[in-house]
Formats: sequence, structure tokens, C-alpha cells
Amino acid sequence: MSKLADQVAIVTGSGRGIGRAIAHSLMKEGAKVVITDINEELCQQTTKEFLEEGGQAMAIACNVTNTESVKAMVEGVVAKWGRIDVLVNNAGITRDALFMRMTEDQWQAVIDTNLTSAFKVAQPVLKVMSKQRSGRIINIASTTGVHGNFGQVNYAAAKAGLIGFTKTVALEYASRNITANAVAPGFIDTAMTQALGEEIISKFVEKIPLKRMGTPEDIAAAVLFFAGPGSYVTGQVMEVNGGLYT
Ligand SMILES: NC(=O)c1ccc[n+]([C@@H]2O[C@H](COP(=O)([O-])OP(=O)(O)OC[C@H]3O[C@@H](n4cnc5c(N)ncnc54)[C@H](O)[C@@H]3O)[C@@H](O)[C@H]2O)c1
Repeated sequence: MSKLADQVAIVTGSGRGIGRAIAHSLMKEGAKVVITDINEELCQQTTKEFLEEGGQAMAIACNVTNTESVKAMVEGVVAKWGRIDVLVNNAGITRDALFMRMTEDQWQAVIDTNLTSAFKVAQPVLKVMSKQRSGRIINIASTTGVHGNFGQVNYAAAKAGLIGFTKTVALEYASRNITANAVAPGFIDTAMTQALGEEIISKFVEKIPLKRMGTPEDIAAAVLFFAGPGSYVTGQVMEVNGGLYT
């Protein structure tokens, strides 16, 4: 019997990258997955590929910074599949700049997409999970939210906020058998990091004890651990970083 048979999982920002790998691994464990992304084309393409593999998936385009769009997405999931067992808040962006040069737009875009989005998505989802008396919330934070990083004051603040959000949801919903945990990825090979260019990437990799970038599948493995049934782990932050704790 698959670990997540008949469970329904929403993964935000799952059109590509880490979110796609998370949705794929949840689907391989038997979950019905909701592929939701601001990019409708990516959403449809990923869903098509998952369905061709024989999994159960549906595409719902959604902008996690827009309350109405989020509400429609959650209502669409409940209308089709009747329940929500796993929510992975994964959608995220970077708008890097040194603090003194950072514009208010760069600050706000990252806070809205990486932090306020979790509030907007988790609120309607937790209503559904509370009625079920079961659920798993998994938030994709970052090692930057734990340790800080040059040029990422907006991103560090958003991801640190997401960790505080995770710990508080864990406390408030434990009595309803709902867990909330965070995965904090280190340096993972996706479009987000490829944008940094070869030179910066190889400098980073030199510092990583395991001497390689992480893969989206490395992050998916940690998410799968938190998504499993019967877990006694809540309010936890798991760093998946190849041993680089700075
Ligand atoms: N790549 C890394 O090294 C790394 C490290 C730490 C944390 N993370 C986090 O992992 C998550 C995924 O990152 P990734 O590397 O796969 O990035 P990515 O850019 O490859 O994918 C992010 C996805 O989110 C979607 N998205 C962006 N804004 C959205 C919005 N408003 N509404 C809905 N979807 C939206 C994008 O369309 C894209 O498909 C992010 O939260 C990121 O902060 C990544």
C-alpha cells in the first residue's frame, strides 16, 4: 500500500523546480496532487506529464499573493477531491540587493510572495483540515532564514518569518492532529540559482561539505518525511544543505 494513497496534496509553485519535484514524489507515494503556479503554461505542462506517467494530478493556476485567486484554488480542490491532506507552501521568489540599495518594491514583493502567501493559503486550507481532524502543513523556508545571507535581507526576513509562522501553526493546530514543519533548503540546482551564473555557483559549491549543489529531489525527500501519516514531529525546521551551516 502506498504511503499517501487517496490523500490530496497541494503544492504551490509546482510548475517547475523544487515544487515540481515535491509534487512528483508525493504523487509517486499515491497522493492526488494539485499542481498550482502563477505560470498557467507550466501548470498545464507539468500536470500533463504527471498524468502521462499514470498519476493523479490536476492543474489550477493560482497567484499566491492574491486572496481571491487562492480562495478559488482551494475551493476548486475541495469541489473536485473533497479533502486536503497535505499543503506545501513552496512558491517563492528572490529580488536580491544589498540592504542600502534595496527598494521598497523589492522588499515588498519578496515578503508578499514568500511569507504573506503562507498566511493566505494556509487559512482556508486549515479550515478544511480542522474539520477532517488531520493534516500536514510543510513550508519551504531557506537556510538564509536561519543564518542570514548577504544581499538577501528581504528573503531572510520572509523565510525567518515563515519559520515563526510554522512553529505557531504547529502549536495552535496540534490538538486537531495537524502538524506544521519547515524544510530549509541550502543551495539547490534550479532556475532560481542558475540565474547566479557559473562563477558564483562554483564558489558556493566549494564551501559545501558534500561538494555539490542539492537537487530538487533532495528537498522532496525531506518533505515526504514530514508528509507521512502518524508523525510525532511538529514545529520542526529541517535544514537540507549538504552540511553548510552558515
Ligand atoms: N533553489 C534554491 O537554492 C532554494 C534554496 C532555498 C529555498 N528555496 C525555496 O524553494 C522554493 C522553490 O524555489 P525554486 O528554486 O524551485 O524556484 P523556481 O523559481 O524554480 O520555482 C518557483 C516557482 O514558484 C512560482 N511562483 C512564483 N511566484 C508565484 C506566485 N506569486 N504564485 C504562485 N506561484 C508562484 C514560479 O512560477 C515557479 O514555478 C522557493 O520558496 C524558494 O525560496 C530555494
